[in-house]
Amino acid sequence: MTTWITICDTCKRDGWEDTGMDQTDGEALAALVEGAAQGTNIKTRRVSCLMGCERSCNISIQAENKLAYTLGSFTPEIDAAEGIVAYATAHAESDNGQVPYRQWPEAVKGHFVTRHLPLDDGE
Ligand code: FES
Repeated sequence: MTTWITICDTCKRDGWEDTGMDQTDGEALAALVEGAAQGTNIKTRRVSCLMGCERSCNISIQAENKLAYTLGSFTPEIDAAEGIVAYATAHAESDNGQVPYRQWPEAVKGHFVTRHLPLDDGE
């Protein structure tokens, strides 16, 4: 199953208004994640708002029939992007989406917000 990273491209961190930035923090992180995912089997998409605005920047990691996660409080930096993609790669390689803690990239530690179990439709 393909693992997807969904990046909120409307996230703005505290103080964003004062930076004069011509893009949101979410757009900046999305571009970095998209770049880091190039050449991998991880797919990315952008959405506008994951409803975790107070914890900007936010992303989610999902694959069919696997545990899904939302993560937040990222800064739009390459270390964060590379860690997110590395975690997604481990998620893709896992049987059920559960990645052993020893495999977690440093960049994702402390950023997990929610975990969602896959649906069981009884089939
Ligand atoms: S604007 Fe990014 S979660 Fe709401």
